[in-house]
Amino acid sequence: MIAIIAAMQPEIKLIKDSVENPEKIVWKDWEFVCGKLSGKEIVAVQTGVGKVLAALVTQRMIDVFSPSAIIMTGIAGALNPDLHRGDIVVGTDCLQHDMDATVFGFKRGQIPYTDYRIIESDPALVAAALSYPAEKLRTGRILTGDQFVTGSGDAALSYLTDELEGDVVEMEGAAAGLTAKVNDIPFLLIRVISDKADGKAKGSYQKFLKSASERSFHLIEYLLEGI
Ligand code: ADE
Repeated sequence: MIAIIAAMQPEIKLIKDSVENPEKIVWKDWEFVCGKLSGKEIVAVQTGVGKVLAALVTQRMIDVFSPSAIIMTGIAGALNPDLHRGDIVVGTDCLQHDMDATVFGFKRGQIPYTDYRIIESDPALVAAALSYPAEKLRTGRILTGDQFVTGSGDAALSYLTDELEGDVVEMEGAAAGLTAKVNDIPFLLIRVISDKADGKAKGSYQKFLKSASERSFHLIEYLLEGI
């Protein structure tokens, strides 16, 4: 069984609605939809926004459904100026940009007293995604933090690109990715650019949420057929 997860309703709705013979399992505020999509058994869930819910719901899903792979999708803001709205970015790795214990000598993004920092996507899943014939996909590093970033020009956030070399910013990926890693489950993070993480991010995000989600849906369908 392959798990498909996303933070917000529009990001997962098409997937949930397309599952054949869906079985719905409710746990507290979360509905897990199981069934077939593109010929594969899947479980789909909307985690909610932010790192805590992403990790919590991913762990619950692993405990109950034992997925063989976890694919997280959704939208993201572009940090890399070469990325534009609608571009699909396959995350080669991700990390928490707001984990900062640098004052104690830890690297930015490193969870203190652990080696957990950069979470790599599963190379076979990355390769499968990049074989998508419909369009050219981009690869990149995805940064995760509990904040909606609206000021890529802001000197205070220059470490996102200068130090962490992020291409994309969002709010859940590295939390779900770390949960997958601790559980030894292959993980893939795919994001569609909805905004440029700048002063216009709020309006752009609202406008592109639906169309960006549709773009990622078709890629997920393709991926499921091939894996
Ligand atoms: N998701 C989509 N756009 C984002 C942004 N600008 N910051 C954080 N998460 C996002």
